[in-house]
Amino acid sequence: MAEPAREHGSEQLIDPFARRVKDLRISITDRCNFRCTYCMPEEGMQWMNRSELLTYEEQARIARVCVERWEFQAIRVTGGEPTVRAHLPRLFEMLAPLAVDLAMTTNGVRLPELAHRLAEAGLGRVNISIDSLNRETFRELTRRDELDRVLAGIDAALDAGLTPVKLNVVVIRGVNDHEVVELAAFGRAKGVGVRFIEFMPLDAQGEWTREGVVPAHEILDAVDAVFPLEPAPRSSGPASSHPEPARLARYADGIGDVGVIPSVTEPFCDDCDRVRITAEGKFRTCLFALDETDLRAVLRDGGTDDELAAAITAAVGTKWAGHHIGKVDFIRPARSMSQIGG
Ligand code: 5AD
Ligand code: SF4
Repeated sequence: MAEPAREHGSEQLIDPFARRVKDLRISITDRCNFRCTYCMPEEGMQWMNRSELLTYEEQARIARVCVERWEFQAIRVTGGEPTVRAHLPRLFEMLAPLAVDLAMTTNGVRLPELAHRLAEAGLGRVNISIDSLNRETFRELTRRDELDRVLAGIDAALDAGLTPVKLNVVVIRGVNDHEVVELAAFGRAKGVGVRFIEFMPLDAQGEWTREGVVPAHEILDAVDAVFPLEPAPRSSGPASSHPEPARLARYADGIGDVGVIPSVTEPFCDDCDRVRITAEGKFRTCLFALDETDLRAVLRDGGTDDELAAAITAAVGTKWAGHHIGKVDFIRPARSMSQIGG
């Protein structure tokens, strides 16, 4: 359908708390080849049907509207596990012309065969989840004996130039908190940044408890005791154009940096610039949001770009100041991380 010519890129998308929205996270599948205990049960997940998922064309259209109208600066592809969806390089070929920071969060297990093809298609960089370097602990956490392939996936990502590669580590008390220093040492040796993440109440089984959370300062103290740290600027990005929520510290010896994502103990909501779409096209203004806007309906009812933009603007108008984890009024979202997108 023809649309009136209009100036793009001059507006910004601003939420009710004066935060500029400029980071879009697109979950492309709720499925995964792992079953991390902090995310999914071993069996019995209800998967979305293929026909419910947005197509790559639909995802790329939403991304284009966000970049053209409001100069979004970052797009991250997530899951579930994004690499289980077929023909993934095609999506990055469609997103690459948008010329934004294009990243993907993955468990890394399929990167040995995919990293180079994804890089050629236009993917810029990856965050790879690795919660343990101990084969047995890794197997217990992910319910898959795939540590070696994930390690090979990290090497493949580096080899393909999907840099800066970052490693995501969800720290859970009594499960892998004793490995924090070892994981930091591994990151230093590989030349990749490690991001330790506080365990959040987003598992499908509702097993989260406050006791499982290792506070960010405790994680940094453990690293600092072995590899002395000094404060680093809040963002590692160019000119802080796209701050990451991690609290970053630099190794005093100059060998890289380390970050903690204190989602629970010190929420970074005040600086939040993110919005998300789930694999079936529900637009969410927060990981913990209770409301969603059905963009798939707008797309499949023949909506114009203006109508899509209006639906997004209206949803952003309802964005809240922040989540209330740990407060009496906190309500768990009905979805797990794999269904929302990390
Ligand atoms: N708490 C914190 N992080 C989580 N992730 C998945 N579930 C949780 C949770 N309950 C992480 C994954 C991955 C990213 C997508 O989100 O480990 O790094
Ligand atoms: Fe899969 Fe990621 Fe959930 Fe683990 S945390 S089961 S890798 S979606």
